[in-house]
Formats: sequence, structure tokens, C-alpha cells
Amino acid sequence: MKIVHREHSAYKDPVMDLYIASFPRSSSDKIALSKYLDEFLKEENALFAIDNDQLFGALLYSPIHEDKDLPSLITENFNTQKCVYIAEMMVSENSRGKGIGSQLLESFFINIDKNQYSDAFIRVWDQNEVAIGLYKKMGFIPYTEIDQVKTYPDGNGTFLMKKIYLHKKL
Ligand SMILES: CC(C)(COP(=O)(O)OP(=O)(O)OC[C@H]1O[C@@H](n2cnc3c(N)ncnc32)[C@H](O)[C@@H]1OP(=O)(O)O)[C@@H](O)C(=O)NCCC(=O)NCCS
Repeated sequence: MKIVHREHSAYKDPVMDLYIASFPRSSSDKIALSKYLDEFLKEENALFAIDNDQLFGALLYSPIHEDKDLPSLITENFNTQKCVYIAEMMVSENSRGKGIGSQLLESFFINIDKNQYSDAFIRVWDQNEVAIGLYKKMGFIPYTEIDQVKTYPDGNGTFLMKKIYLHKKL
């Protein structure tokens, strides 16, 4: 398994498949998803876990000011121009628990431009214990929370999802 950075075009379709498999509820609008993923790939803000040219995991990031839900606690206490946001982390289901997520994060911390960014944030659903455990192990500390309004998959009504923003100094 190797982690590669800045190979933007080659993995578009596999990243799309991995995203849909990892976040089934978000996959209904494939055109919107394709545009969303293109933003990361064209900026080369992506790390890929590859074995024999096959994609097993991906980490996508962006400047944090592109996060539309950014809590005021972050905007008031950080220079958001210097903050990077890990927007997506995903590993293919059969390969989870083997250290690929840890490797993606380790590689991210080594490769991210520390002149451009001083702080990293990641956002996670408060029930995602595996992800929260991994992020804490990698040095992230819970910083603040938001409630997101989500629509049920059948379109019938809405519910609240609590998301935690975790912070790590780079
Ligand atoms: C979160 C995710 C990216 C982690 O990737 P991963 O390759 O499984 O991560 P790692 O193997 O490096 O570490 C996972 C940790 O959780 C532990 N773990 C416990 N149960 C686990 C399970 N069922 N599957 C995977 N890991 C598990 C592992 O033991 C490991 O901890 P350790 O290093 O102390 O042993 C991956 O589970 C995933 O893609 N989940 C679905 C998408 C998602 O929720 N993404 C995060 C959104 S914020």
C-alpha cells in the first residue's frame, strides 16, 4: 500500500465509487457529487491509498473558509486563511481497521504546506466512534459542535445530526 498525493485525474471514478459506498445516504445526486469531488481533484487537494493501481482509501481537503457551516467559535478564534479542513476521509469497507486511515492522516500531516496552513480541522458525526477514535489517536482534540438539519432518505421529514469539529495544530 502506498499513499500518493497530487495525482488528480487518474482516480476520479474510483473516488466517486468509494464515496458512494462509504456515504450511501449522500449519493442520490451523482452530478452534484461529481462536481463536489472535482473541486478537490482539480486543486490536487487529495491523498490516495493505492495498491496495484487500485484505490483503497482517500483523504480530501480544502481551505476551511470553503466550509459553509463553519461555526463562529472557529471564525472568531482562528485566522481561517491559515486553517485547512479535512472534508472527507474514506477507506473501502473490506480494508478498514488495517491502518489505511492512519496512514492517510500521517501522510497528510507530513505533506501539508506548513507555510500556508498552521491549523487543521476535521468534522465528524458524533456517533462515528471509529472515526472519532482514529482522529483522537492522531492528535485531534474536539473543539466545537454544530447541529445539521438532514432530510430522511425517503424525503419524509428532517432530523438533527450533531457534528463535532476536532482541531490539531500543524
Ligand atoms: C473512518 C475510516 C476512514 C477509518 O479508516 P481505517 O483505515 O479503518 O482506519 P485505521 O485502520 O487506521 O484505524 C481505525 C481505528 O479504529 C479501530 N476500529 C475498531 N473497530 C473498527 C472497525 N470495525 N473497522 C475499522 N476500524 C476499527 C481500529 O482498530 C483502529 O484503531 P487502532 O489504530 O487503535 O487499532 C473508515 O472506517 C471509513 O472509511 N469509514 C466510513 C466513512 C467514514 O465514516 N469516514 C469518516 C467521516 S468523518
